[in-house]
Amino acid sequence: MSPTKTNDSTLSQNTTALRSSRILLNVEDYHQAAKEKLTKMAYDYYRAGADDELTLQENVAAFRRIQLRPTVFVDVSTHSTDPNSCAVTLLNGQTKCSFPVLIAPTAMHRMADDAGERATARAAVRANTVMILSTLSTTRIEDVTAEHRQALKEYPTSTSQLWFQLYILKDREFTTRLVQRAENAGCRALVLTVDACRFGNREADHRNGFRLPENMQLENLYDAGLKQAQSDHVSALNDYIARNLDSTLTWSDIKWLRQISSLPIIVKGIITGEDAQLAVQAGVDGIVVSNHGARQVDTTISTIEALPDIVAAVRQLQTKKKVDIYIDGGIRRGTDVLKALALGADAVLLGRPILWGLAVDGCQGVVDVLEIYKRELKLAMMLCGCASLPNKAKTPSSLIKMPRSKL
Ligand code: FNR
Ligand code: LAC
Repeated sequence: MSPTKTNDSTLSQNTTALRSSRILLNVEDYHQAAKEKLTKMAYDYYRAGADDELTLQENVAAFRRIQLRPTVFVDVSTHSTDPNSCAVTLLNGQTKCSFPVLIAPTAMHRMADDAGERATARAAVRANTVMILSTLSTTRIEDVTAEHRQALKEYPTSTSQLWFQLYILKDREFTTRLVQRAENAGCRALVLTVDACRFGNREADHRNGFRLPENMQLENLYDAGLKQAQSDHVSALNDYIARNLDSTLTWSDIKWLRQISSLPIIVKGIITGEDAQLAVQAGVDGIVVSNHGARQVDTTISTIEALPDIVAAVRQLQTKKKVDIYIDGGIRRGTDVLKALALGADAVLLGRPILWGLAVDGCQGVVDVLEIYKRELKLAMMLCGCASLPNKAKTPSSLIKMPRSKL
């Protein structure tokens, strides 16, 4: 039985289809369908977390432990009448999205779909949101931005932007050229990943001897060596990263990045209030509360548990410039998005769910996954009595009941 996608109208219309074929109703349905389509090596790479994958489970479980406190009998009709009822403005007005759900940077999209990152960029335009393009993409930056520009011509009402995720390599001249390429090609912000001086211990990749398929490469980098794992029990990716990424980086390197680019800088991979304050003091424009999808250090706190401390720490500094706070990790439902916003996030990022959509049906699959989040978020807001997105100044909101400590 081939999977059938669904949207608002097919949901209400086609009950026969509902019964007779397999319906992809939610993100987990897309995950399972993607698993069937991907090679084992690609699926394991996309899915895996570090070590025993405790944080991988915890990122999802922590959202589930938080409970909502709906308010009833509120006029929430705006969600039916206004397609922009969930629209957000980010980076001090520079960026507008139709809803507060962005595409996280994930590597190697061509393992999921031939059109790879170009398909994802097109989906970002259609869903009117931001795509953060990974340094480790299997499509050249310039080819992704060209596809994005073409899609914007076809969907002229979309305000979608591409941002570029940066790994700083040991070779600073090469890194400078990479940043300049991203800027010249039209990327509108830099997302500097700060939690990956090495890659974590993803055992599935080691067991598979993870390497890129022969017909693909990391198009933005010199990737000799990534094709062959050194032995059956080593991930070629980990080996490559250990050789090329700069593990000497400190907060003073933000100043270096400022000197070589005028783009807004967002740091990704902050999990404590202390680091959030250092980031703000270093002058960043945004923070992504992230544990890298639980792929780096296992047994870290989940991202949603980290968020309240980080919001409080950033607020305490009372900077003139507004510093955006984003979060990713384990966001699988519209209610998760609502919880993150009610706890003070400006927007959320999706990693694996986008890859599942891409694997199932390319660009259309990504659009469908984003549509599921939008539909679920709007429904959750209506049923909780939220006519508009939670007011960040009033967080934590009365919408949220935090769990008691489990210890
Ligand atoms: C990632 N992530 C990531 N982050 C980054 O800064 N640069 C990258 O190239 C990648 N690549 C990557 C590949 C894959 C397969 C995954 C699953 C993740 C981390 C990503 O941006 C994000 O932090 C997490 O994926 C968010 O968690 P969820 O939504 O996957 O649970
Ligand atoms: C990963 C890298 C690419 O998590 O960030 O696999």
